[in-house]
Amino acid sequence: MFLPSLTFLVLPTFLQTITALNFAFEEIQLTEAETLSNPSIRFGDLNNPAPPSAEPCKVTPQDQDWPTDTEWADFNATLGGVLLKPRPLALPCYNETTVGGGSTYNATRCEAVKSGWGNMALHANDPISVRSQWATGDSCVPTGQPNSKCSQGGYPVYVINATTVRHVQMAVNFARNKNIRVVVKNSGHDFNGKNIGAHSLSIWVHNLKGAEYHADYTTSNYAGRALVVGAGTQASDVYSIRTTYNTTIQLPGGATVGVVGGYAQGGGHSSYSSLYGLTADNVLRIHAVTADGKFVTADPDTNQDLYWAFRGGGGGNFGIVTSMVIAAFPQTPLASSSISFSTLPRAGQPGLSVDTFWQGVETYFSYGIAICEEGGLGYDFIRHSTSGNSTGLTFTVSISLPFKTASEVREFLQPLRDQLREIGIMRSVQDESTNTTPDNDASISAIGDTVHHTLIASRLFQRSNFATPSSLSELRAAVRYFVEEGGYDFHGQTYNPSLETDAYDTDNAVHPGFRTAIMHAQGYERTHHWDGVEPVVPVAEQAQRHDRMQSYIQRWKEITPGSGSYMNEGDAQTKDWKDAFWGENYERLEGVKRKFDPWGMFWVLGGVGSDAWEVRGSSGGGREGLFTQDGTLCKVEI
Ligand SMILES: Cc1cc2nc3c(=O)[nH]c(=O)nc-3n(C[C@H](O)[C@H](O)[C@H](O)COP(=O)(O)OP(=O)(O)OC[C@H]3O[C@@H](n4cnc5c(N)ncnc54)[C@H](O)[C@@H]3O)c2cc1C
Ligand SMILES: *[C@@H]1O[C@H](CO)[C@@H](O)[C@H](O)[C@H]1NC(C)=O
Ligand SMILES: *[C@@H]1O[C@H](CO)[C@@H](O)[C@H](O)[C@H]1NC(C)=O
Ligand SMILES: *[C@@H]1O[C@H](CO)[C@@H](O)[C@H](O)[C@H]1NC(C)=O
Ligand SMILES: *[C@@H]1O[C@H](CO)[C@@H](O)[C@H](O)[C@H]1NC(C)=O
Ligand SMILES: *[C@@H]1O[C@H](CO)[C@@H](O)[C@H](O)[C@H]1NC(C)=O
Ligand SMILES: *[C@@H]1O[C@H](CO)[C@@H](O)[C@H](O)[C@H]1NC(C)=O
Repeated sequence: MFLPSLTFLVLPTFLQTITALNFAFEEIQLTEAETLSNPSIRFGDLNNPAPPSAEPCKVTPQDQDWPTDTEWADFNATLGGVLLKPRPLALPCYNETTVGGGSTYNATRCEAVKSGWGNMALHANDPISVRSQWATGDSCVPTGQPNSKCSQGGYPVYVINATTVRHVQMAVNFARNKNIRVVVKNSGHDFNGKNIGAHSLSIWVHNLKGAEYHADYTTSNYAGRALVVGAGTQASDVYSIRTTYNTTIQLPGGATVGVVGGYAQGGGHSSYSSLYGLTADNVLRIHAVTADGKFVTADPDTNQDLYWAFRGGGGGNFGIVTSMVIAAFPQTPLASSSISFSTLPRAGQPGLSVDTFWQGVETYFSYGIAICEEGGLGYDFIRHSTSGNSTGLTFTVSISLPFKTASEVREFLQPLRDQLREIGIMRSVQDESTNTTPDNDASISAIGDTVHHTLIASRLFQRSNFATPSSLSELRAAVRYFVEEGGYDFHGQTYNPSLETDAYDTDNAVHPGFRTAIMHAQGYERTHHWDGVEPVVPVAEQAQRHDRMQSYIQRWKEITPGSGSYMNEGDAQTKDWKDAFWGENYERLEGVKRKFDPWGMFWVLGGVGSDAWEVRGSSGGGREGLFTQDGTLCKVEI
């Protein structure tokens, strides 16, 4: 440059306002200079994306092209020693003779793993363990049978315990240059095993922690409250900020779920979805490492297409987010009230008849639109007391409304209670006290923060499904069929992140069906694939159970034409995944994917562009069976 003194004077302010970084860990970056002497970590060129390899598949440790131990050691040294080679958590449950060497079996440690297994915190804090063990091929579950087999299965080979942006950049570059599969693990909550992959290098973002509140965060089109969040930050890490700064922040219900990983990138519903929209609708700015290894900003002024795609396109698709800035809101009180009724006898009263039970459910559904119009959330469950049985059904719902007092919520719900009484339900209604809490996330977080029900499907029921008596009765019939004949449990979340909420920006990649939805409905198997005692359910049976659930969800699809499914709580194995997760946004997303990841570096099941690749040789068998990750990722031959 010709005017060095001017540049010198101007640059610092320029950096402050335009590319201000959120955290110190983002200032530590990989430089071009460093890569000159180390070709294995050189950056990629999005404009000239030469394939790293002509091979159709990513390399595996059995391949000649897999880096040698010396290369891995050198890589580890360059990384400053953060490379891990973790074995599965349940290793101490297995006899050393079945796991290929090393002293492993330890009854005490095995017991500890077994008793902690149902708690997500155990998996969230481990470099490779995840909620959806089926996706590993159930390759190493905690067992009482030490002589059964434990293998690495769908777990990664190496993990980078990332604590700086530089670590993430080096991982992406090394993997791209060496043709190694990359996966990203944050909290490990994903229901579809998108956080693991055999023969891969995993980027573990869990330790990229940070959460800072700004009362006056300013961008070119926003000035106000915001939360700056690091990639590894979990919901519970943020709870205290809400109280300290008297602010409302949209968070996942599960205490250990990550805030800016799959949750915010896939949509992210909270207690405030009907009032403030989805979390993705309130993302102001994103910092991420893209497939070329570059560290980028995506916001309304920079990389607009990437900014659009990151908000709804889903985790593990477009790059590795290191932090986000998310709009926060004035402290928004919620008051809630719960209702419950059952076909089981209660408090000396006989249980309801099954027909009356479902009439009650339909009566609740008839308040769906009203709850959403009040900016509220209805959080309901229909659970079986025994498997595949229509006699032991219990309905519970907690309805929370913003800016209302406890007595106002009671008043709002009085007509519902009256109607329930009219059809004979009030007798067995458990009408719990209405209480005012600043936010009911904390109470919701008690639900499901364990390893359960990973066979799941979801559908966004539309306003039209709730609009008339006949559509309500059709809706009730579809849910009843699923619950009774299918034998599944049901979880309805009545909320509507419409275009009219107070969200920052709804022009993003989430399924347009969210905007006109009244309920995000989930169905799941009561038991998960491994019950802690018995040997794992054989893959053929898992596949058959999966197909069965798909056939039952078909009924929901039929009454919701053009609608979709919430990718974070849906079935990534569904055959119509493009439509289901993105609808008309898919094509544009695919364009962004081609531009920012021409190599197909970031691959997840049911992700954007995922049909270009397949996992070969997995124990699950892929599309024809179950999509487990214990195989080799290969390009689909056209
Ligand atoms: C108990 C429980 C409660 C839940 N509650 C809610 C809720 O209230 N609202 C809601 O909307 N959803 C909820 N979910 C669903 C949740 O949003 C998804 O499970 C989500 O994928 C979790 O994201 P994660 O980053 O924490 O987990 P992970 O499983 O580690 O990651 C999920 C996906 O995102 C990718 N990813 C993670 N971090 C990054 C990153 N930094 N950059 C790029 N890609 C990344 C991963 O590769 C993977 O594909 C809940 C799930 C559970 C199990
Ligand atoms: C990487 O280096 C660190 C520090 O020397 C060491 O503790 C760690 O075991 C190494 N990782 C691997 C996979 O060898
Ligand atoms: C492990 O295997 C060896 C050899 O088969 C056997 O002698 C030993 O009892 C086994 N240990 C356990 C804990 O089952
Ligand atoms: C088993 O693990 C426990 C807990 O880590 C440890 O105290 C004990 O020494 C181990 N036992 C053996 C035989 O290695
Ligand atoms: C990962 O890094 C963090 C931060 O340096 C450290 O506290 C933690 O022990 C590391 N985890 C593992 C499994 O090495
Ligand atoms: C918290 O914020 C709310 C909403 O802005 C306000 O009404 C209330 O007075 C605040 N409380 C405190 C203690 O500042
Ligand atoms: C359901 O449970 C009841 C009571 O336990 C039992 O009598 C009935 O046979 C069960 N029905 C089915 C289909 O399992």
